[in-house]
Amino acid sequence: MNAEHPTPNPPRPSLLRNWLSLTGLVVVTGSLFSFFLLFFLDTLAHFSNPYIGILTYFIAPGFLFLGLCLAAVGALRARKRLGASAGLLPKLVVDLSRPRDRKIMGFFIAGTLLFLLVSALGSYHTYHFTESTQFCGQTCHTVMQPELITYQHGSHARVACVQCHIGPGAEWFVKAKVSGTYQLYAVAFNKYPRPIPTPIKNLRPAQDTCEQCHWPKKFVGNLDKTYNYFLGDETNTPFAVRLTMKVGGGDPTHGPVGGIHWHMNVGNKVEYVAAKLDQGTWIADPARQSIPWVRVVDAQGVVTEYRTKAFTNAIAENQVRSVDCMDCHNRPAHTYQSPNDAVNLALSLGKIDRNLKWIKTNAVYTLTRKYANETQAVQSIATHLAGQYPNEPRIKPAIDAVQEIYRNNFFPEMNASWDKYPNNIGHKDWPGCFRCHDGKHLTADGQRTIKASDCNTCHTILAQGRGEELNLLSPAGQKFKHPGDEVDGACNDCHTGGL
Ligand code: HEC
Ligand code: HEC
Ligand code: HEC
Ligand code: HEC
Ligand code: HEC
Ligand code: HEC
Repeated sequence: MNAEHPTPNPPRPSLLRNWLSLTGLVVVTGSLFSFFLLFFLDTLAHFSNPYIGILTYFIAPGFLFLGLCLAAVGALRARKRLGASAGLLPKLVVDLSRPRDRKIMGFFIAGTLLFLLVSALGSYHTYHFTESTQFCGQTCHTVMQPELITYQHGSHARVACVQCHIGPGAEWFVKAKVSGTYQLYAVAFNKYPRPIPTPIKNLRPAQDTCEQCHWPKKFVGNLDKTYNYFLGDETNTPFAVRLTMKVGGGDPTHGPVGGIHWHMNVGNKVEYVAAKLDQGTWIADPARQSIPWVRVVDAQGVVTEYRTKAFTNAIAENQVRSVDCMDCHNRPAHTYQSPNDAVNLALSLGKIDRNLKWIKTNAVYTLTRKYANETQAVQSIATHLAGQYPNEPRIKPAIDAVQEIYRNNFFPEMNASWDKYPNNIGHKDWPGCFRCHDGKHLTADGQRTIKASDCNTCHTILAQGRGEELNLLSPAGQKFKHPGDEVDGACNDCHTGGL
């Protein structure tokens, strides 16, 4: 045997024949098998379980990649070892005239095609999966539970999370994935705030989300709304208010401009600065609950500024925000009902029997207590109410109803509930419209306040009271008869959700 003259093209020792590479190949085969199995399960069986998606589109491809890496590392090490021990390694020569090489080439091409196909399929589905409500709402179960549950009970339960939170286009898709990566880190290391603060910084402007479905030029006109209440007295006296809500519209080509949707920035632009007094100085109000300065630019370009007497600061233009849908409809998908609203609703639906004495007060009471977690809350609610109504079979369904209210609106693990998230749509429990329409914002000459600050401009009260009183409709509007005593002051001074 002549070592200097090796036979041409000796059989190449397989670089994959080592433990590391073989393990890698087993992992590759296993993950491919699992991927296809899970993929078919996912497509055929219509599970609604986020974990199968995570397994299919993250874990299985992850293992595939890991297996390939192991095989490659094994091969590289084998190559290095061979090179070192033999001092030489035959050059890679592909000779298609040899059946063995043709076979390997065939496998290689088929393998590459399969790999490309699987990764195309995989990334397409990974993309769709990360955009799904399951992924957003259920993966980080505790963190997103408040939003998911309130969303499922809202009017947008069939609108995907991403349609409001990301919207169309590549730019926001990338932004969302970047901030999503940070959120993953925050969840993994338990660094997320409880509750999640709002208004969401850098929320995509409503023009690109809400307005994709809600045509801002649409003329809504008047809405007829009835609010049912029960007073906190012995007989849970019913009281109702029927309002004509003057929603109107904002675009002259589609109907008269006026009413509440006049603000929609189609013809006019309404801007404001949110600031609050902190020990004598004005600081920015991130919650946007205190608005001392407002500017209107009308269709003709006429500018009018309004400010409260106390606010004398100069305006930094970068602090000015334009009113959009979210300044009024900030809870379109996640409404955390207050104890008062939720119990009123359950009473009006008969879920809680209104003939149980003092039940309104007692039910609201249990929902305004602090509880450490849901289990404790549900138990305490049952114990308290059962204790108040001994030997009373009608309390059982009432307890169920109150517990259901708790589960759907209170999330102690995330510290999320009605009192953490202001709702800007009205003015009863939160300042809402009265942040600007409180009659205290004056023009520069001090002559005029923001109009629409009396009770019949945004809505007229058609009927109010109970029983027969509700049939006495007055189209021109009635004066509000506050139940009990005549009251003075802003509604939300007294009404905070627990009353
Ligand atoms: C109809 C549009 C819409 C849909 C659909 C929607 N959201 Fe929201 N979401 C909002 C708005 C508006 C806010 C409040 C923004 C603000 O105040 O800055 C919000 C707030 C949030 C917040 C901040 C905390 C809070 O409770 O306000 C989280 C987290 C959130 N959404 C997650 C989700 C998830 C998860 C889904 C799907 C299960 C979803 N959202 C579906 C519009 C939507
Ligand atoms: C993908 C489409 C879609 C998007 C995006 C969307 N909505 Fe809606 N919205 C709907 C549908 C559908 C309804 C239900 C209509 C019905 O029940 O008649 C609805 C109902 C509403 C209602 C009336 C019901 C209620 O809850 O008072 C409001 C207000 C509303 N949306 C505001 C918003 C706001 C604000 C946004 C942006 C944060 C938004 N929507 C984003 C489709 C959408
Ligand atoms: C100045 C506050 C304000 C702004 C800004 C505003 N809305 Fe409204 N919108 C209201 C009020 C108040 C109602 C009456 C419904 C209610 O009482 O809950 C309403 C009603 C609606 C409804 C329900 C109509 C129906 O037929 O039931 C939709 C949908 C809606 N708004 C969408 C939008 C969208 C989209 C935007 C942004 C382009 C927007 N709104 C901007 C205050 C506002
Ligand atoms: C950021 C401040 C601001 C908020 C918040 C606000 N408005 Fe206004 N609104 C204005 C200004 C400014 C005008 C124009 C007043 C004027 O011309 O004197 C106006 C005008 C109106 C008008 C009269 C429109 C017309 O026909 O001329 C109505 C009705 C109205 N608002 C209802 C509401 C309702 C309902 C809400 C709460 C859901 C609300 N506004 C929240 C600032 C605001
Ligand atoms: C700037 C517009 C505006 C003015 C001014 C206004 N309201 Fe309202 N009001 C609203 C809106 C918007 C709602 C609807 C809230 C909702 O749908 O949750 C509402 C709701 C109500 C309700 C039902 C409350 C609830 O949320 O359960 C009552 C009662 C009411 N208003 C009384 C009054 C009285 C009394 C005045 C005068 C002191 C007044 N409003 C002035 C806009 C206005
Ligand atoms: C001085 C405090 C105070 C002010 C200000 C006030 N209320 Fe009330 N309100 C009460 C009390 C107390 C009750 C009785 C609660 C009960 O018996 O259940 C009540 C009851 C009500 C009820 C029926 C009960 C229910 O379940 O909500 C409505 C509706 C109501 N108020 C609306 C308003 C509106 C709208 C405003 C602002 C225009 C307002 N209130 C201002 C103290 C106040």
